[in-house]
Amino acid sequence: MAQGEGARPRGRGARGGARIVKPLTQMALEVLQTADGREKTALSHAHAAAWRAARSDDARPEIGRAAPPLQPARPAKPDLVSPRDVPRRKPGSPEGRIAMMHAVAHIELNAVDLHWDVIARFGHLDLPIGFCDDWVQAADEESKHFNLMCDCLEAEGSFYGALPAHAGMWRAAEETADDLMARLAVVPMVLEARGLDVTPGMIDLFRRAHATGAVAALETIYAEEVAHVAYGSKWFHFLCGRENCDPKPTFHALVRRYFHAPLKPPFNTEKRADAGLPPDFYWPLADLPKAQSK
Ligand SMILES: [Fe+2]
Ligand SMILES: [Fe+2]
Repeated sequence: MAQGEGARPRGRGARGGARIVKPLTQMALEVLQTADGREKTALSHAHAAAWRAARSDDARPEIGRAAPPLQPARPAKPDLVSPRDVPRRKPGSPEGRIAMMHAVAHIELNAVDLHWDVIARFGHLDLPIGFCDDWVQAADEESKHFNLMCDCLEAEGSFYGALPAHAGMWRAAEETADDLMARLAVVPMVLEARGLDVTPGMIDLFRRAHATGAVAALETIYAEEVAHVAYGSKWFHFLCGRENCDPKPTFHALVRRYFHAPLKPPFNTEKRADAGLPPDFYWPLADLPKAQSK
């Protein structure tokens, strides 16, 4: 028995938090190994709640170490196809709005796995415990986002899986499976930051269609995604500081190496600033006409 253990209240872990029954990386693995979207997100939410309870009173629950699969389990539907084979529908039409909600649901399900994959793959590294708190929080919010979009689809008589979806979403995770700084640069600081750029246009489109449920869901997503980009920027800067490397050129080099495409303006300068992404991080990577890029 560890020193002092006998004096702990029942159900309390080291330094006071509620005891978790398994290490955090094991919880992450279980989410990654669950195929059905609603089941995956329910487990994600339950594990996040268990982690938060265990972290009360500044306790330090066990993180452990996992060997996550290169790809997470996914449902039999949707069919995953090349982006050029995802059927295009007129954006303002009811079919177009369903296609857009389906695409967002697919992004959110990938995001759930992306955040738990960070914990499963990198959680054992020597980092402040706040690193785990942030990704658990982000994973829990992505789970909510997926369910919000599924609810909207079902209210329109559709469902997640009814349409084909983009097959390439996990590529960034595979390519950065061995490099946490690259993962942070490409996933939260590029892909999730792109979400901040495009979501206001989507909200306008649904507002014009008086689709109040979808507007409310997207507004929740938009508000919470700022923090996810901020987590990326915070931990990227932390790692740069510890490695004694200059964040800006390091970010540029990693994005050029792992992202393979220029970033697309227009950028949401305001929300990117809220998330700790200054313009000199993203403008040099932008797809600009030659005259502007000088
Ligand atoms: Fe999200
Ligand atoms: Fe996110």
